[in-house]
Amino acid sequence: MNSFSILILTFSICFELSYGFFARTIRDGNGMTKTHLDITAAGTLRAIDKYIKSNKGSGSIDDFFGEDTNGKDTMMKKVFALRKAVADTQENRKNTAYIHCHADQIDLAHNFVKSCKKKLSSRINDTNEFITQLGECLYTIQSFYSNTNWVEMYGGKVYENFGINTLMDVAALEEDTCLDNADYKYVQSLFRVR
Ligand SMILES: *[C@@H]1O[C@H](CO)[C@@H](O)[C@H](O)[C@H]1NC(C)=O
Repeated sequence: MNSFSILILTFSICFELSYGFFARTIRDGNGMTKTHLDITAAGTLRAIDKYIKSNKGSGSIDDFFGEDTNGKDTMMKKVFALRKAVADTQENRKNTAYIHCHADQIDLAHNFVKSCKKKLSSRINDTNEFITQLGECLYTIQSFYSNTNWVEMYGGKVYENFGINTLMDVAALEEDTCLDNADYKYVQSLFRVR
């Protein structure tokens, strides 16, 4: 491994963080902490807004739906179903380490996300199954940021190759990639989501 290789954290940063983001409710008393529910709802609405702007020629989600409150309600129900599917993944897939992007499973997590596109297109006619599976894919992408030291090294930058192209070099299991830090609150502030 050369000096330009990017190092991925094992579990040394903080034992309490090994489950990554909280699924639904914040349990560390830190108002800056985001849950999988928060991240999914914010990200999904941002993506829908971007899609409407570039494909439907209207300004925002509200402009697009206009008087059609039923249409907007239906969309919001799907967004809520998706964020529930992401949060449920933490419990339902608790015994599958790569879903959580655990340190020794980053390659598998990357390949799992890579397989999502094809898998999801085959579920296009079954909305419930589609949402469940999309939820697992998004959960793994979110877990990349909570279970690796990417944020510590690159802040708010997106790792665009994750689950798409070739994965960067990752640290060997026995390699230390960051210092132990017993101060949980301090570590939380480093891992704040922007
Ligand atoms: C979805 O349904 C349409 C219409 O019945 C069908 O033509 C298409 O092949 C189906 N797609 C998949 C991936 O099952």
